[in-house]
Amino acid sequence: MMAVSKRPTPPIVAMVGGGQLARMTHQAAIALGQSLRVLAVSPDDPAAQVSPDVVIGAHTDLEVLRTAATGAAALTFDHEHVPTALLDTLVGEGVKVYPPPEALVHAQDKLVMRRKLEQLGAPIPRFTTVTSVDDVDAFAAAVSGPVVVKTVRGGYDGRGVVLTRDLAHAREVVASYLADNVAVLLEERVSTRRELSALVARSPFGQGAAWPIVETVQRDGICVTVLAPAPGLSEDLAGAAEQLGLRLAADLGVVGVLAVELFETTEGALLVNELAMRPHNSGHWTMDGAVTSQFEQHLRAVLDYPLGDTRPIAPVTVMANVLGAPQTPVMGLDERLHHLFGRIPEAKVHLYGKAERPGRKVGHVNIVGTADCDVNRVRERAERAAHWLSHAEWTDGWDGHSADD
Ligand SMILES: Nc1ncnc2c1ncn2[C@@H]1O[C@H](COP(=O)(O)OP(=O)(O)OP(=O)(O)O)[C@@H](O)[C@H]1O
Ligand SMILES: [Mg+2]
Repeated sequence: MMAVSKRPTPPIVAMVGGGQLARMTHQAAIALGQSLRVLAVSPDDPAAQVSPDVVIGAHTDLEVLRTAATGAAALTFDHEHVPTALLDTLVGEGVKVYPPPEALVHAQDKLVMRRKLEQLGAPIPRFTTVTSVDDVDAFAAAVSGPVVVKTVRGGYDGRGVVLTRDLAHAREVVASYLADNVAVLLEERVSTRRELSALVARSPFGQGAAWPIVETVQRDGICVTVLAPAPGLSEDLAGAAEQLGLRLAADLGVVGVLAVELFETTEGALLVNELAMRPHNSGHWTMDGAVTSQFEQHLRAVLDYPLGDTRPIAPVTVMANVLGAPQTPVMGLDERLHHLFGRIPEAKVHLYGKAERPGRKVGHVNIVGTADCDVNRVRERAERAAHWLSHAEWTDGWDGHSADD
């Protein structure tokens, strides 16, 4: 008798959120013979455009979440906005929610996160809760320096973070949040040398893996460039940051990718800024610059597969975000790509299928350096490529019609 060959039935991972992180996770799922199920708000969302398995609905609706989780080996996230109570219900019904709700809350609520990190002895900026405007004076006096006001929940891309100018400004910001019943906390403004990110992954089995520590460059509260690995970081500090990432993943019971955003202070110490429990902007470089990308790793982790090799494949990789220009160029994206590839053939482009709007993350470019490359030159080329894609302008004034490069 002839064996009847059947199509394989790969496990289904369901991801809440249809943004670019889900889109790139789907891309990794395809290589593993899988297809990511996506819970999206609209069929137009970046991941909903590309996955054949889409549930449309609100991530705050239990029935919608149940539909997404039915038959899935794991339910995971491209953002942190699902209320904990709904996730607890799903866990009670036997859904494998990864990261588990009791871990995820540390990426949802900055106050819960700060308190937990304090309890775990992780280094953090001084902070306090606020119930009245007068708390601002007391805290500013205690830290004797400028303060940062942060919404406890719901901030992203620097929204919900105000680096205040002075005491009067801080009081004003706090008063306005309190008047709207928005919970905020206060933090000391850290004098930073730069910002770093420790990206790790952890599986339910307990395996952990860490990528090299990277430097993240922010503009207006948004990550614009990532240098991997962080240039000139001492082995001691890099090792300490990796160990911190792995320890936090284990202590918090994270499953999947964990990004630990860090400040390197002017004194050379590390402080934890915040946590994200999903693939993260600071890990986009891994798509082209590491043996295992963060997206594949996230899938491996939530499916409890052995984790992949996190080593970089080059001495340096630079990621530059493509952020919508103040004025969308007349030249179409297709033509911009054409020109980009003509001038910077080594650019690895990742576009998210999003409409261009000022400051919106619509894609990123990775450039993987060669053995003898200079990180500043790789950075310049990656940033030039990203700027060209969003603005249709060469930052060095190059004119393709009249010059050779
Ligand atoms: N205590 C602080 N001292 C100095 N700078 C800070 C402080 N807190 C935040 N910042 C700056 O603001 C940026 C955004 O802050 P944070 O990461 O807390 O906000 P977010 O909106 O939740 O960010 P994300 O875009 O990562 O979700 C940081 O990357 C850093 O540049
Ligand atoms: Mg942040």
